[in-house]
Amino acid sequence: MKTYVFCSFKGGTAKTSSVLHIGACLATFHAKRVLLVDFDSQANLSIGLGVGPDQLGTMVSVLHGKKTTQEVICSTCIPNLDLIPANVFLDGVESSAPLVSDFYAHERLRAALKDLPYDFCFIDTPPSLGWLTQSAFYAAQESIICAVPEPYSILAMNRLKDYHVSLEERHPLQSTSVILTFWDERGAANNAFLNAIQQVFPNRLFQTKIRRDIAVNRAILQGKPVIVTDPNSRASCDYKSLTNELISRNDKN
Ligand SMILES: Nc1ncnc2c1ncn2[C@@H]1O[C@H](COP(=O)(O)OP(=O)(O)OP(=O)(O)O)[C@@H](O)[C@H]1O
Ligand SMILES: [Mg+2]
Repeated sequence: MKTYVFCSFKGGTAKTSSVLHIGACLATFHAKRVLLVDFDSQANLSIGLGVGPDQLGTMVSVLHGKKTTQEVICSTCIPNLDLIPANVFLDGVESSAPLVSDFYAHERLRAALKDLPYDFCFIDTPPSLGWLTQSAFYAAQESIICAVPEPYSILAMNRLKDYHVSLEERHPLQSTSVILTFWDERGAANNAFLNAIQQVFPNRLFQTKIRRDIAVNRAILQGKPVIVTDPNSRASCDYKSLTNELISRNDKN
C-alpha cells in the first residue's frame, strides 16, 4: 500500500477535493483499492462522500486504542473506495489521554495504517502543519502539496519545503509532488507562479492543473464525487487526467 499525505499551509487549496477525486478516479478507472483517511476535524472529506461523522467511529477511537482500524473503515458509494471518517474530536486529540503521555503518539497513525489491504491510502490534513499533519507525514511515503495560483500560496512553498526538510531528518519521504488547483489558463501571473514552484520543487508539479469548476460544489452538496454527479465536467476530466499522471509517476518510482 502506498500512502500519500495531502497538505498545504493555506486553507481552501482543494486538498480535500483532490483526495476525494483522485481516490475516486483510482478506484473507478484503474480498479485500485483505495482507502481515504479524513484526518481533519472539519470532516469535509466525510461530508463530501455523504458519510456522517460517528457512523462507526473515527480515527480518534483508533488513536485512543478503543477500536481497531478495520472497525472504523466505511464503504462509500464508489466500489473499491473506503473511508475512515473524521469528527470534531480530532482537534486537540494529541492533548487527550492516553496520547498526551505517549512520547511516540505521533507515530500511532502510522501503526494504525500498517498492513491494510489497499493499493493506495490518501490522508487528508487540516490547513496547518500541526500535530495531525505531522502524524500524517510520519504515516506516509509520499506527500502531495496543493497550491492555488495566488502569491500567499506560492510563497508558502518555501516554508513547506523547510517543513519537509525538518521532518525528513526523522522520516524520509520517497517523493513530493505539487498540484495546482483553481487554475485559470489566462492568469496574468501564471508564469511567475510556475517558475516559483519550479525553483522550490523542481519537476515535481503535475502537468495537469485543476481548473475552477462549479460542478465540484454541486457534487459536495450531493455527497458524491464529480465523476458520478457530472462525469463530463471540467473537474471530472482534470481529475481523471491527473490520476493518470499519478499512476505513471507511481510506476516509475
Ligand atoms: N476545482 C474546483 N472548482 C471550484 N471550486 C472548487 C474546486 N475544488 C474545490 N472547490 C471548492 O473550494 C472549496 C475548498 O475546497 P477544499 O475543501 O477541497 O479545500 P481544502 O484545501 O481541503 O480546504 P481546507 O484547508 O479548509 O481543508 C470547497 O467549497 C470546494 O467545493
Ligand atoms: Mg480540507
